[in-house]
Amino acid sequence: MNKYQSLALQLKQQICEQIWRSGEKIPSVRACSRQAQVSTATVLQAYQLLETEGWLVAKPQSGYLVATNIRQVIQAEGETPPPDAPPMRINDLLYDVFQRTKSSDFMPFSSAFPEANLFPQQELVRSLASASRKMKENSALTNLPPGSYELRRLIAQRYVQQGLSVKPDDIVITTGGLEALNLSLQAVTQPGDYVAIESPTFYGALQAIERLKLIPVEIPASVTSGLDLDVLEEKLAAYPIKACWLMTNFQNPLGYSLSNAQKQRLVSLLNRHEAYLIEDDVYSELYFSEQKPLPAKAFDPQDRVLLCSSFSKCLSPGFRIGWVVAGKLSDQIQRQQFLSTISSSVPAQLGISHYLLHGGYDNHLRKLRTTLQHRKTAMITAIKQAFPKQTQVSDPDGGYVVWLSFPPPFDCQKFYELASQANIAIAPGTIFSLQQDARQHIRLNYSYPLNPKTLTAINTLGDLAARCLRSESEASS
Ligand SMILES: Cc1ncc(COP(=O)(O)O)c(C=O)c1O
Repeated sequence: MNKYQSLALQLKQQICEQIWRSGEKIPSVRACSRQAQVSTATVLQAYQLLETEGWLVAKPQSGYLVATNIRQVIQAEGETPPPDAPPMRINDLLYDVFQRTKSSDFMPFSSAFPEANLFPQQELVRSLASASRKMKENSALTNLPPGSYELRRLIAQRYVQQGLSVKPDDIVITTGGLEALNLSLQAVTQPGDYVAIESPTFYGALQAIERLKLIPVEIPASVTSGLDLDVLEEKLAAYPIKACWLMTNFQNPLGYSLSNAQKQRLVSLLNRHEAYLIEDDVYSELYFSEQKPLPAKAFDPQDRVLLCSSFSKCLSPGFRIGWVVAGKLSDQIQRQQFLSTISSSVPAQLGISHYLLHGGYDNHLRKLRTTLQHRKTAMITAIKQAFPKQTQVSDPDGGYVVWLSFPPPFDCQKFYELASQANIAIAPGTIFSLQQDARQHIRLNYSYPLNPKTLTAINTLGDLAARCLRSESEASS
């Protein structure tokens, strides 16, 4: 590759990374030649090449600007991936999904959080300001793990109102629910231990298992029948499983909940095999029925359940405040936390405590649940109209995601790429499971209002699904 070609390539990368944005002036020929230590003729040749290819526009008296239609130029260039590009690993794919979800250019149906407008931003900001003003000099010390006593007391209060016997001292405040789950898994396992998970599962479980060098035992789960407890019983008898990482309410991504009888059976199976349950309960406030569902922890006299949750899904993802009801393992969890993040943010802990006391949390939750339920109905109706008739869509009783299933040989990763080209981010089934049939599914976030933009995006996805199903069945015939 010549010098000017390599310089042009560098510039393309910088434009793709948005260091230089659409319509923005790039460094002058002279400045670039100084910085890259090449001649001005080389820089000029590189800029002219990029101009011919549509990346740059020369503006008299101004120099070179990034083309205003740069998105299309980048997409056109990206349409032919390198022929032998290796298949994405789950973490790479997950990171890619995450990046697209963040981008304001994309319709974020892949998001793991409800639409931002559904959170009480103003009230939270007021609570944060008020709590920060009253913060004492030594509050960084007094709120070290297990965390703010007041916040733990208010969280315990909510469990007690549900009939659970939880004390403030059972709780450790963490940096989001994910830290609670990770610390819990770390506290009860050693590298090489077996851990049971649902299949499909929340991708955080797959990542934690990989990071801690544990061995996953996948337990089948489905939208209609939930977790297969008979298979779990067999696996507990066959392998020395140390822990199960499961969701008992509004499982992500399938949306099912276990009944109280199933929760009871689950805990008694674990007691029999001396395994722990790491219970991910981040969605339980987002129920559409009359009553908040109980966690499996409600049936846990032997203190074998580490109940993890957070405010990320129902109040504020950005505050990153979660917790684990750790009971007798509280000390062990705090030690793990001390080695990783030390403590979660003190102003955020105090701000959320203030909000829980004065901000009208239950009122907010009531409104949030009603909105989500309406949006679910609207989105499912739109999906059924837009997608091919072979598409199956879940209808969960809580949360804000639906699981779409297509007949084989549907390839969700191909669908993901096509959707991305249309600036729509979706969560492909392959980030939730290691099984081959994960390719037949996608997850969509339904917390967005069904306005013309969302509806167009759903219709586009429906067309793309039809295209995928057609081309794959042609290829296989
Ligand atoms: C099922 C599930 N559990 C846990 C988490 C982590 O929650 P937090 O954002 O509080 O760390 C997420 C977030 O995406 C999730 O979807």
